[in-house]
Amino acid sequence: MKAFVVNEPGSVDKLQLQEIDKPTPRAGEVLVKVIAISVNPVDTKTREGKALYNSLAEQPPVIIGWDISGVVEAVGDDVKVFKAGDEVFGMVNFPGHGRAYAEYVAAPEAHLAHKPENVPHHEAAAATLAALTAWQVLVHEANLKAGQKVLIHAAAGGVGHFAVQIAKYFQATVLGTASPENHDFIRNLGADEQIDYHKYKVADVVMDADIVLDSLGEENTRNSLAALREGGTIVSILGGAKEAVQEEAKKRNITAKNYLVHSSAEDMEKIADLMRQGHLRPHVSHVFPFKDLPKAHEQVETRKTNGKVVVSVEE
Ligand SMILES: NC(=O)c1ccc[n+]([C@@H]2O[C@H](COP(=O)([O-])OP(=O)(O)OC[C@H]3O[C@@H](n4cnc5c(N)ncnc54)[C@H](OP(=O)(O)O)[C@@H]3O)[C@@H](O)[C@H]2O)c1
Repeated sequence: MKAFVVNEPGSVDKLQLQEIDKPTPRAGEVLVKVIAISVNPVDTKTREGKALYNSLAEQPPVIIGWDISGVVEAVGDDVKVFKAGDEVFGMVNFPGHGRAYAEYVAAPEAHLAHKPENVPHHEAAAATLAALTAWQVLVHEANLKAGQKVLIHAAAGGVGHFAVQIAKYFQATVLGTASPENHDFIRNLGADEQIDYHKYKVADVVMDADIVLDSLGEENTRNSLAALREGGTIVSILGGAKEAVQEEAKKRNITAKNYLVHSSAEDMEKIADLMRQGHLRPHVSHVFPFKDLPKAHEQVETRKTNGKVVVSVEE
């Protein structure tokens, strides 16, 4: 089968299309014929030798990628939920070795959900790592409740555009930061207020948020503390809740924490249900053919993507 292998870290030309053995599903795993893959900033960072590169390099060949949608071709021993022919999607083995940039992926069934029939594969592939992150942060880490005020940084991006929709589903009031050209986009996703981050610091315009989702890092996490009410929660997905920031947060009884998404079939099923019912719609702004996967990395590296970047494996 064909797969993109990273033999040494570096720029996009280190993503090399090679012929490698098709994986064999082990106990508890299914073999998925991949139809679509989504690309995340962690993919590009790992390709550069940062993020998860060192742990992946312990199990060569390094094959980046975690987000897939496709069809089950075979099942290993003890697989209970899926059978050959089932359409599935999910984030495979994150933060381990997902090996998703390939025509076939051996995936633990505990990381997958049935793809909703009303959602095409390229949209399902998009609603994996980014959607799980938004779900796990808001629902599990921040314990989001109806009526709360939620501030989402980078609301037009992969994680942000799912977070806005999930927070609206929970009947929260949602504020999002975005460039002015994306204000209509996030308004249509459900954001009640749009904040131009080029012009304003969030604390200039918000002071009573219950929850903040930070995706920009330490400076932004620190600056966002003043946008929270006493007792509020900020969750950073870019390691922004450093010890000093946590100390500062404590003075106002604010919880500041970091979070790393993890694979979960249970959470994938929740996301599948929301899409089935029309409450969650992935926005896919770019689709590249498999051979052009390096171009998908270049798009993600612009840091200006609306929603998600997807690669179509079946052409
Ligand atoms: N810890 C975890 O589990 C986890 C999970 C997923 C992602 N992440 C990390 O979270 C970050 C975001 O991921 P993503 O997939 O959402 O990225 P993305 O889709 O590439 O984000 C692109 C968006 O970022 C916005 N943006 C850029 N600079 C901004 C700023 N200074 N303020 C506000 N918005 C800004 C852009 O908005 P405009 O075009 O409107 O300017 C664009 O819409 C990445 O660093 C990623 O590695 C961590």
